[in-house]
Amino acid sequence: MLEKIDDLLTEVQNFQSSSKDEIEQFRIRFNGKKGIMTDFYDFLKQVPNDQKKVAGQKINTLKVAVNDKLEALKSASESTLILEKEDLTRPAFPLELGSRHPINLVKNKIIDIFKSIGFAVADGPEIEDDWHNFTALNLPEYHPARDMQDTFFIEQNPDVLLRTHTSSVQIRYMEENEPPMRILAPGRVFRNEAVSSRSHCIFHQIEGLYIDENVSFADLKQTIQFFTTELFGKSKIRMRPSYFPFTEPSAEVDVYWGLNSETDYRITKGTGWLEIMGCGMVDPAVLKNVNIDPDKFSGYAFGMGIERIVMLLYQMSDIRMFFENDIRMLEQFKPL
Ligand code: DAH
Repeated sequence: MLEKIDDLLTEVQNFQSSSKDEIEQFRIRFNGKKGIMTDFYDFLKQVPNDQKKVAGQKINTLKVAVNDKLEALKSASESTLILEKEDLTRPAFPLELGSRHPINLVKNKIIDIFKSIGFAVADGPEIEDDWHNFTALNLPEYHPARDMQDTFFIEQNPDVLLRTHTSSVQIRYMEENEPPMRILAPGRVFRNEAVSSRSHCIFHQIEGLYIDENVSFADLKQTIQFFTTELFGKSKIRMRPSYFPFTEPSAEVDVYWGLNSETDYRITKGTGWLEIMGCGMVDPAVLKNVNIDPDKFSGYAFGMGIERIVMLLYQMSDIRMFFENDIRMLEQFKPL
């Protein structure tokens, strides 16, 4: 019986087929219930104990060879199956080029404009503390202006909150650096606002800050005028008195958009003017909070919402689109 094993081993090793039926016949011949391997196992039971070890090893060699062969045939037939199913000569799927999110397109454009006049980009955390978001900005606890900037707090620690504006970066930057300083701080901000087509609980702002000796309101106005001319091609602006706790005096900036089309009438509510940002001279109390001497230094700051500007430039009507990220919307944006 055992002398047959060598021939069987050669047979197993030489067997080749890509036919499913032939492979199945091969399997049945060796591994079927009444197959060759079963015969050998039955035979092994009758082998005297002192010869069992040698006989067992020989039979096992055949068993391993059969199973290896079956395994190899199986994986070979699987890969031919794939080759049969797929047309490997067809052109590859084109690599889709992504596009920049409209918020980033406009943000980068604004950064470029201010970079060209010496502003650097600064960054700060989205998870803030009370000091940087409110108190140091002259918005102490119980100040009524805090009501307009309700946000998301952590119950266990009311000192931790999601920043309501990028003005917090002003404080962080002034704490760490010495004047003169000229920075732009773009970023995401959060407020407890009902989501609608015009407002969202997440949005983006860009903050500007310039601190030096002898900085005046005229510098502020010039800079903003330069900015609106570069971004919108419109140089006519007006500054309306306003109130922010961290600036004194404070102003709201409107750009004269014009009344040349029906859209102009709609977006400016018939006035021709569009509000684009808040600004003012940094309040001396804020400078004191960050250990900058208000008798020596002065400065201006401004802050604007990016979404509003994107909606204006691309004529979009619903702020929610920025956060849905529908590819059909995103792929329409080309750099300005
Ligand atoms: N932080 C203000 C807001 O979110 C915007 C702002 C107004 C920023 C005046 C400024 C500023 O730096 O000077 O409503």
